[in-house]
Parts: sequence; structure tokens; C-alpha cells
Amino acid sequence: MDLELKGKRAIITGGTRGIGRAIADRLAAEGADVAICARTEAGVIETVEALKAQGVRAFGSALDVRDADAFRTGTSAVRDLGGVDIAISNVSTRPTLEGEEGWREAFDTDFLQHVRFAELSLSKLAEGRDANLLFLSSIAATLTILPPGESAYGTMKAALISYMGQLASTHGSKGVRVNAVSPGPIFFPGGVWDQIGKHQPDMFKRVAQMSALGRHGTPEEVADAVVFLCSPKAGYITGANLRVDGAMVKTVNH
Ligand SMILES: NC(=O)c1ccc[n+]([C@@H]2O[C@H](COP(=O)([O-])OP(=O)(O)OC[C@H]3O[C@@H](n4cnc5c(N)ncnc54)[C@H](OP(=O)(O)O)[C@@H]3O)[C@@H](O)[C@H]2O)c1
Repeated sequence: MDLELKGKRAIITGGTRGIGRAIADRLAAEGADVAICARTEAGVIETVEALKAQGVRAFGSALDVRDADAFRTGTSAVRDLGGVDIAISNVSTRPTLEGEEGWREAFDTDFLQHVRFAELSLSKLAEGRDANLLFLSSIAATLTILPPGESAYGTMKAALISYMGQLASTHGSKGVRVNAVSPGPIFFPGGVWDQIGKHQPDMFKRVAQMSALGRHGTPEEVADAVVFLCSPKAGYITGANLRVDGAMVKTVNH
């Protein structure tokens, strides 16, 4: 299927590894120009070169999404691209602190950065051209039992889905679709499940077995869902939260 993404302009936060990198690669493979950001400059340079090698225009910025000023001024990628058709808010700061300060920090670093990205993107998204804003949430948003230290992570992910729905309602008339994708456990070298596999192998196996498919997912499987949702082929889908979790969550997804 031709996803009709050739020539589209996409920005992604955190595009140098894992799910964000797979999304950047898939978009480039479909002929979209891509801009990414991440904190580590070497990763940004390597990714931009790899994307360019696929024959598209690619740009990158080394910045921390928690730094509001750097984030706003570091988005020269939008200017370089000459506009934005697809904006993907992928980074999570994975807050683990506890207590009131921890909650404040979680809100500051793992929710407000998405609001900042959304406001910036919505002011640039090419209205009326099937523009798309997509958030990476998590099945942690729907789980009531989470591993220790992940309470704020799950709560911020739930807030993100609520925010996504509100934006979908208010921006649909301008031709902007807004969706979320909620991955289950996704394995890739250097990622969070790689660490768990090394340090808590029993938990790694138990979680794989909780999926109806008996395994972790891959970044590419999440990226395929994201890229489809952001393509004109998903033109009537907005306000949706798509789980990509191998049916790990045992409820009907209304
Ligand atoms: N992996 C999973 O199992 C899973 C499951 C459910 C949901 N998710 C969600 O999917 C998204 C991607 O997860 P992932 O596991 O692929 O990501 P990841 O391994 O945590 O990081 C992905 C990218 O984000 C960049 N990054 C991290 N912190 C940043 C910051 N403060 N500022 C700028 N860039 C930053 C990283 O580069 P640098 O380190 O160089 O900055 C990297 O390019 C997240 O929202 C996560 O919550 C993941």
C-alpha cells in the first residue's frame, strides 16, 4: 500500500534509538523528510546521516526536551523543513521520584514537554493538508498495578491521552488529526526492556507471557502503526488511542 507520505515533512522528539528511531526510519523509507532531536549529539549526527542515505532531507538538533528555552530555540529544524505535516511527540523522561516534589517534577518533565511540543507544532502544522500530531503514550496509562516507581509515569501517560482527545476535537475542523499510540513492552538493545532482561530475567519472561503473543514487541511494530496513523490512508481516524501491546491489556478497547 502506498501510504502517500512522499514529500511530507515530519518532526519527531527522541529519534535516535528505539521507537523514535524506528519511526524516523519508516517515515524516511516512505519518502518523508524528517527532523529529529535527542540529547546526545553523536546520536543525532549518526541518525541524520542514516536518514539522508535513504534519499530524503533530514535535520537534527541536540537538545533536552525538559529545557523549555533550548527546546523552543532549538527547533530550527521546523524552519529547515519549510513547514510541518507530521509532528510526533515521542520522548518520555520516565519520572521515578516520589513525594510531592517528584510529582511536580513528573508533571514538569513528562507532561508539559508534550504540551510545549503540541503548541509549537500546532502553530506550524500545515492546516488543511491532512496534518497530524501524534503522542506516544503507554499501556501504563490504563494499568492500575504498576512496578514500583512507575506511578507518575503511568499517570502522566493517562493525562496525555486525555489531552490528545481534547486537541483532536478542537483541531479537526482545521484539518489536523490528533492520535496516540500506546505500546506494551518493546524490546530493543539498550532500551528499558533490555535492562530488565539483564537484571530481572524472571520479570522479563513473565511480562512476555502476559502478552497474547507470548513475546515483547519491536520498535518497528510500533513505528508501522504510528506511520499508518499519520498517513492520509488513516484519514478518518482522529482522537484514537491505539494499543500496540500484543493484547497484554486484558480489556476490550472501546
Ligand atoms: N520501550 C517500551 O517498552 C515502551 C513501552 C510503552 C511506551 N513507551 C513509550 O514510547 C516512547 C519511546 O520509548 P523508547 O523506549 O523508544 O525510548 P528511550 O529509549 O527512552 O529514548 C528514545 C529517544 O529519546 C531521546 N531522549 C530521551 N530523553 C530525552 C530528553 N530529555 N530530551 C531529548 N531527547 C531525549 C533518546 O536520546 P538521548 O538519550 O540521546 O537523549 C532517544 O533518542 C516513550 O514515550 C515511552 O514512554 C515505550
